[in-house]
Amino acid sequence: MSLKLMVTGCNGQLGRALYELTKDDTGFEYVGSDVPELDITDCEALVSYVKELKPDVIINCAAATNVDGCEKDEDLAFKINALGPRNLAVAANEVDAKLIHISTDYVFPGDGNVPRTENDPVGPKSAYGRTKLAGEEFVKLFAKKWFIVRTAWLYGEGKNFVRTMLKLSETKDSISVVDDQLGNPTSALELGRAILKLAPTQLYGIYHGTCEGVCSWADLTEEIFKMKGIATKVVRISSEEYKKNYPDSADRPSYSALEKRMFKLNLDHRFKDWKDALKEYLLG
Ligand SMILES: NC(=O)c1ccc[n+]([C@@H]2O[C@H](COP(=O)([O-])OP(=O)(O)OC[C@H]3O[C@@H](n4cnc5c(N)ncnc54)[C@H](OP(=O)(O)O)[C@@H]3O)[C@@H](O)[C@H]2O)c1
Repeated sequence: MSLKLMVTGCNGQLGRALYELTKDDTGFEYVGSDVPELDITDCEALVSYVKELKPDVIINCAAATNVDGCEKDEDLAFKINALGPRNLAVAANEVDAKLIHISTDYVFPGDGNVPRTENDPVGPKSAYGRTKLAGEEFVKLFAKKWFIVRTAWLYGEGKNFVRTMLKLSETKDSISVVDDQLGNPTSALELGRAILKLAPTQLYGIYHGTCEGVCSWADLTEEIFKMKGIATKVVRISSEEYKKNYPDSADRPSYSALEKRMFKLNLDHRFKDWKDALKEYLLG
């Protein structure tokens, strides 16, 4: 019997990756929804949708992901990133479904130089991080069967850093890229594969889901250009220099690598190295 997945935010990067991974006969039935047909902030509509669909697992890929946008309108971000998951937890309980909620490295303060484990103290520094943390708290409080999967630096089918750099390279001989923020670039497909391993289990809890290996945005850009044979030069700049040009941008974590202890210990699952996953994304 196949497992019925209800995927919210299905038009986003992770939602599309999950569709790709389940569209053939994989033992999963994928039912996607996104705004406007299903708005996760509308609790009543959501509960009746879930009661009708009766999914086995709800995967919440819906979110307000524009970090600077969240800073400008934190109330709206809270509605989507915190109250949305609260509503999904309530709805999941109605049909005894599991809830897999996707969260972020931004729940951490982003300092230090050691990868954060799932149980390390949180301390968000941005509106995006605060609202996503509130979402995690609601899920823990209200859902009966929950997984929280924190990811970072995601790229897939949609708007993302990798695509932005490729686009810029079409018209520029050199690009200034921040070199003092470190993290784990993560392919949406690689994250999706891990989530699908988690879905049939009862191994509830908080998971970190990112590719292996740490680099800076400048390192990532150089690797993209190297793999694609692009001659555009990468000029390494500090966050301070970047902020001079974009004073309204939200502060980003300087170190946001995540340790994937729960995936290793519970499922013996290893994520691909970031360069291998990037190669799959860029070169197939
Ligand atoms: N992207 C990253 O680098 C990154 C990093 C860390 C964690 N994450 C987390 O990973 C998850 C997936 O991210 P992603 O990159 O796939 O996001 P994404 O591409 O921005 O997709 C999110 C989707 O959710 C939809 N959505 C927004 N508000 C909604 C609502 N009220 N009801 C239903 N759907 C709504 C969006 O529609 P609109 O486009 O119309 O708003 C969009 O289709 C999110 O939880 C995100 O916080 C992402």
